[in-house]
Amino acid sequence: MKNIAVIGAGTMGNGIAHTFAQSGFKVQLIDIHADSLKKGLETITKNLDRMLAKTHLTAAQKQDTLNNITTFTDMAEGVASADLVVEAATENCDLKLKIFKQLDDICAKNTILASNTSSISITQIAAATSRPKQVIGMHFMNPVPIMKLVEIIRGYNTSDEVTKTIMELSKTLGKDPVEVNDYPGFVANRILMPMLNESIETLYNGVAGVTEIDTVMKLGMAHPMGPLQLADFIGLDICLSILNVMYDGFKNPKYAPCPLLVNMVSAGKLGVKSGEGFYDYSESRKAEKVAKQFL
Ligand SMILES: NC(=O)c1ccc[n+]([C@@H]2O[C@H](COP(=O)([O-])OP(=O)(O)OC[C@H]3O[C@@H](n4cnc5c(N)ncnc54)[C@H](O)[C@@H]3O)[C@@H](O)[C@H]2O)c1
Repeated sequence: MKNIAVIGAGTMGNGIAHTFAQSGFKVQLIDIHADSLKKGLETITKNLDRMLAKTHLTAAQKQDTLNNITTFTDMAEGVASADLVVEAATENCDLKLKIFKQLDDICAKNTILASNTSSISITQIAAATSRPKQVIGMHFMNPVPIMKLVEIIRGYNTSDEVTKTIMELSKTLGKDPVEVNDYPGFVANRILMPMLNESIETLYNGVAGVTEIDTVMKLGMAHPMGPLQLADFIGLDICLSILNVMYDGFKNPKYAPCPLLVNMVSAGKLGVKSGEGFYDYSESRKAEKVAKQFL
């Protein structure tokens, strides 16, 4: 594996590109919006500068990492020489099925196609291609350069060989991959999202306020951040979409999203990215301060 194409230069895509490039891979970063590519590269540079300041890498390593990344707005050009494609575009099932069908048409026959989806079925995504054995989930955690876990999701048809290749590749990135099967929410979100939803329900029922709920979980359970702050950090729209996938997939009311979460998303209160969620991030410095805790 030498050439890694990453689709989507948003929160996750730029972190995935950064991580591969820092490990010496050639990365083709692709986004439909030139502006997202520009912002993605700025974020990567800022994060490398922060690592440089903390002496976690040298100036030469920073430059090598940036030199390893090339950007594209044309998907066919970007994936032309890819050994692996990691798709990190917007969490929307129809969009992902369309992208994978297109990738199947334009990528070399042996290219492995991975998705960073938080919740959409890898088996369903794989069925949009003629190579379901070579389709796999590579679920990185945010912020990607820092977080050790990669949840590796085997679709119904994913081959042993492809799973082994992706497990090994994740280790070369300095990550700790964990293999799981393809059921709604996989493992990480199946356990995390009901906890976040219950925290929102606790607020909705008036049991306690935002800071009180977060303080209980931080000080009482030794969580590094409270569940409501974490939901803001992930994005309330993403939390809602994952809960809906689990609710639909298991037909179990325990995954039904709290009405307060639904209302906040409808009102455009999406957390850090929109400037307001359970907390107020209206001053850009505040949002940056929250993000910096993790970098
Ligand atoms: N945000 C998180 O904490 C998190 C964590 C793990 C996994 N994920 C998953 O990662 C994926 C990306 O999430 P994100 O938070 O980075 O989203 P984001 O909105 O920050 O970025 C998505 C990017 O995809 C681009 N895009 C949309 N359609 C495209 C297309 N057809 N071709 C190329 N680029 C396209 C958009 O322009 C945007 O830049 C989703 O599947 C999400 O579920 C997110």
